[in-house]
Amino acid sequence: MEQTILITGANRGIGLEMSRQYAQADWRVLACCRNPAQAVELDALSRASGGKIRIHALDVARDEDIARLADELRHEKIDILFNNAGISGPRKQGFGPIDSVEWLAAFRVNVVAPYQLTLALVEQVAGSTRRMVAIMGTQLGSIAENTTGGRYVYGSTKAAVHMVGKSLSIDLAPRGITTMLLHPGWVRTDMGGAEATLSVEESVRGLRKVLDRATPADGGQLIAYDGRIVPW
Ligand SMILES: NC(=O)c1ccc[n+]([C@@H]2O[C@H](COP(=O)([O-])OP(=O)(O)OC[C@H]3O[C@@H](n4cnc5c(N)ncnc54)[C@H](OP(=O)(O)O)[C@@H]3O)[C@@H](O)[C@H]2O)c1
Repeated sequence: MEQTILITGANRGIGLEMSRQYAQADWRVLACCRNPAQAVELDALSRASGGKIRIHALDVARDEDIARLADELRHEKIDILFNNAGISGPRKQGFGPIDSVEWLAAFRVNVVAPYQLTLALVEQVAGSTRRMVAIMGTQLGSIAENTTGGRYVYGSTKAAVHMVGKSLSIDLAPRGITTMLLHPGWVRTDMGGAEATLSVEESVRGLRKVLDRATPADGGQLIAYDGRIVPW
């Protein structure tokens, strides 16, 4: 049976590659991005997908966008709700002055938005076959694996969204919804940079495998693209 995935931040980087691979695997993709008019690659992918990829406007930091999207999708079933959109925050995040406004803006996108979007679309997920919420975390948000210090903004937002995902995994379990937290590896995107060790293709292949094999027992853990459990 055809399954549906909703992906945020689908216009570039990991989100774009997820849209490509899931459509290739015959999934319906609700590809969300904040600027559809400028999403040239996603638009080309959508046109070539034979209707598999449908583009939706969504700035995850805007409550009104989330409410509008939930209304547009009120009759949909969403097998996987993939909260992928994220920002790294200001360039300098070592010990020293950090702009508070930028820090809070990163919290909005990386922490508050995945919660608000999940809340807004929980019925669509609960009514699906797969019933899964995925949130992009990162090893850099692991307190146990923090050996370098610094990264105050990005690290604190991702550690916080790990907690959001853990609570969702408990609160949504009675509805049969599995909440997964994922670490994509260090990936060559605008965020990961050119030195990163993984291509988007490798990372997304791994993430898809993790999601394909996931059972409810995998909910509420931080799992890397290669299946490793990352300690909190
Ligand atoms: N790359 C890595 O090595 C790595 C490692 C660990 C975790 N991650 C996580 O993986 C996810 C994807 O990262 P990436 O490497 O693909 O990053 P990226 O290339 O910088 O792409 C980020 C995506 O998020 C979107 N986005 C940012 N703010 C948004 C907002 N307010 N509303 C809607 N979309 C928004 C961007 O859209 P615009 O084009 O409109 O800005 C873009 O599509 C992020 O959550 C990131 O933290 C990445």
